[in-house]
Amino acid sequence: MIIKTPLFIVFEGIDGAGKSTQALRLYNFCNAITPTALLQEPTQSKHGQTLRKMLKGEIQGTTEELLDLFIKDREYDVEHNIQPLLQKGIVVIVDRYFYSTAAYQATDIVTPDVIVTMNINKGFPVPNRVYFIDVEPSVALKRIQNRSGNNREIFESLHILEKIRKNYLSLVNDTFAVIKGYNYDEETLFKYVLHDFTQHFITE
Ligand code: TYD
Repeated sequence: MIIKTPLFIVFEGIDGAGKSTQALRLYNFCNAITPTALLQEPTQSKHGQTLRKMLKGEIQGTTEELLDLFIKDREYDVEHNIQPLLQKGIVVIVDRYFYSTAAYQATDIVTPDVIVTMNINKGFPVPNRVYFIDVEPSVALKRIQNRSGNNREIFESLHILEKIRKNYLSLVNDTFAVIKGYNYDEETLFKYVLHDFTQHFITE
């Protein structure tokens, strides 16, 4: 089996969708065939660390500040991680990318597609495939509650998750594979991811 490189894959979904599990599974699959890196945004950069505090509500940040910081954090990620890895022929899988910014930081004025365009205009590479793990917000919220008790992040309410899901769905194009996660266990979901991945990126 050969994986065609350069290859840049992104996983997206609302909080509690289970995308990190799916990203890890695809990473394990690819890495057994060819060198692969699994990255995550926000990163460990100084902007990423500030963002984590804002997401926990430890420090306040307006929507505009969050938008600005996520883009600065991505500038760091693209320059230090994503581009150098792709240039070395390493498969890059990122758990959240600019579609998260588009879905989470959108407002009535700065809409999701405007945010995508802002990111593309920055020169950030467009992925070969986006796996959008699409889970019902009420199901996702139950998972979040089970996993974190009262230790919640700022976006973790039903109303907000519904809005974020709608924003994601407004961005779907040919690059997206929408994986319907409603009633499936992670094993079954991964079969769907792998089926799509194999069709697009594996040669015998
Ligand atoms: P993440 O660590 O992926 O959380 P989880 O594993 O619970 O999904 O992401 C942290 C939070 O950051 C998540 O609530 C989404 C948010 N986020 C944005 O709002 N904008 C962005 O551009 C990114 C990358 C993340």
